[in-house]
Amino acid sequence: MDYKLGLIGHPIGHSLSPWIHAQFLDLAGLDGEYKLYEGDHQQLPKVLKHLKQEELDGFNVTVPYKQVIVDFLDEIDEDAKVLGAVNTVVSVNGKWKGYSTDGAGYIRSLTEPFPNLLNKNTSVLLLGAGGAARGIYRALIQQQIGRVDIANRSANKAEQLIASMRLPDIDSQVLSFQEAEEQLANYDLIIQTTSVGMKPHIAKQVISLANLSADAVVSDIVYQPIMTQLLQDASARGAAIHHGHAMLLYQGQLAFEKWTGHTLEINHLVDELEKKLRGENN
Ligand code: ATR
Repeated sequence: MDYKLGLIGHPIGHSLSPWIHAQFLDLAGLDGEYKLYEGDHQQLPKVLKHLKQEELDGFNVTVPYKQVIVDFLDEIDEDAKVLGAVNTVVSVNGKWKGYSTDGAGYIRSLTEPFPNLLNKNTSVLLLGAGGAARGIYRALIQQQIGRVDIANRSANKAEQLIASMRLPDIDSQVLSFQEAEEQLANYDLIIQTTSVGMKPHIAKQVISLANLSADAVVSDIVYQPIMTQLLQDASARGAAIHHGHAMLLYQGQLAFEKWTGHTLEINHLVDELEKKLRGENN
């Protein structure tokens, strides 16, 4: 069968998803296409009607439609419901079901290179409390990680994030950036989810890593540039690093799995995508 897949969002002209899913279709030996369906807010209902008529098997949803898409779905997965955001829609007999694969995709991207990192003794510091942090926080908590604390510029957003998860027995502290810097040595994994350090502001770094443990892993979901200031700093201090583009690949892998039933081995694509990004942007 010819898979009909795609992406809705605005703007999406520079999206890496068509490249990623073309690799996946190829790896799976499947025929199909992954097209961009761009439209502004006013055009969204028309774009979605078009996708229904075209009988897409599934599609991804990106900024700014991850929340509003919910109104157009027939069903929504429990995690996506709690997160209030959908990045993957699966069509079954014309009925649309929404999922969020960001958090689980992030965890897969991390455990592939660091298989023993996450367990009940791991202490994680999450920097940021936006949409990306929500998905990652929820996925971490579901893995029963020892401790997941959040540092954010606005403390109330971090408090709200934790409260909104509706999970019992969460032992998460909210820290200021200054407290996070002071207590940094306590963490095994630091995950940077804010937009700080993203092109064109590449010299910025959200917190100082002066107290970082050399045994820690520092992960930055910013992937433009591939080597953010934070990752350079972490690397210079002897810590292991994890690049943001890997999350993009693995959330895509999970979406592809939902659409086609194929679980692909995609680890080699992490380096390929890195080369592609370095060639285009760095
Ligand atoms: P995303 O969906 O990519 O996570 P978002 O929901 O807009 O984007 O969240 C952006 C995150 O980056 C937030 O944690 C935001 O902090 P606030 O909650 O205090 O706004 C953080 N952020 C953005 N610019 C920042 C800056 N200059 N310094 C520190 N944090 C910043």
